[in-house]
Amino acid sequence: MDLASVSADLAALRQRALAAVADADDLKELEATETAFVGRKQGALTAVLRGIGALPAEDRPRVGAIANEVREAVEEAIAERRARLAAIALEVRLAAERVDVTLPGRPLRRGSLHPLVETTREIARIFGQFGFVVYESPEVETDSLNFQALNIPADHPARDLWDTLYVDAPTNDGDRLLLRTHTSPGQMRVMRQTRPPIRALLPGRCFRHEAVDASHGFEFFQVEGLMVDEGTTMAHLRGLLDEFAHALFGAGRPTRFRPGYYPFTEPSVAFDIQCVVCDGGGCPACGRSGWMTILGAGMVHPVVLRNGGIDPEVYQGFAFGMGIDRIAMLRYGINDIRYFLENDARFLEQF
Ligand code: DAH
Repeated sequence: MDLASVSADLAALRQRALAAVADADDLKELEATETAFVGRKQGALTAVLRGIGALPAEDRPRVGAIANEVREAVEEAIAERRARLAAIALEVRLAAERVDVTLPGRPLRRGSLHPLVETTREIARIFGQFGFVVYESPEVETDSLNFQALNIPADHPARDLWDTLYVDAPTNDGDRLLLRTHTSPGQMRVMRQTRPPIRALLPGRCFRHEAVDASHGFEFFQVEGLMVDEGTTMAHLRGLLDEFAHALFGAGRPTRFRPGYYPFTEPSVAFDIQCVVCDGGGCPACGRSGWMTILGAGMVHPVVLRNGGIDPEVYQGFAFGMGIDRIAMLRYGINDIRYFLENDARFLEQF
């Protein structure tokens, strides 16, 4: 053992250590390398230093200085490598967690109003110009408001006009619950809750025990109109409905009143427009008559006014009720009422 060979050993050790540090691919490997070369107890450097006792005393400081230099160089390399490995690990993690916000979004499909909603709004817009205000009224109604207050007593044959779905639920006062067969009970609710002058519009869903076909649903939509004021006449009704029909179906469209029957109006009428398919010539759509009935109407029966808390000696009124489905079918040329509630996107997308 002499100075030259110990120096050579240290130089070789330094080279191996630096190579191993450069080779370490992760922190664990790096730590193993650190322990192997510069570990205090088992490290190769420590092993070399243990041997310097065998050197002449004057050489020892020199060897100690070289050994320190080797240790410093190796530890510095380890620190650098450690920082480098940490940077690489961070890069790997960032790459894995990367979110590419530049990806194009999935296109949102643009919706549109259901044709029944659109038609309801159009009807409300037209009557709104004449001061009519939209009210809501419940779909589950009482027998007394759906029928009795509207001058249709229990067991009266007029009830045959409405095939009724009853609701099997108890009430406090013995009244029966049912799914409203028309929007007319809304008239009663408006009359009892507000004072004349009244100009009310009541759109909503109705239900009947119907055999379903292209023109009948067990679920359908109506809009009710009610006007109550002093001096209200049939002429006002006629003029208003004409304005309505012309706004919806074109200014030149001929209209007519036909006598009709409803228990809650007297007199009662059916309001017809000239057939929008054949323009009056007669076709299957209008039963070859050249006319299409779009609503029922009449002067509010005095009994109904009284049931609504309104004095028929002071006030008169008219009312009308129309099927929104039917109006929408005429506007858009739809030939089957069942499309409206089938939720088929191919149908709905067209509006
Ligand atoms: N409620 C009637 C029906 O469902 C329609 C109707 C007719 C409403 C005449 C009215 C009216 O307000 O005056 O068949």
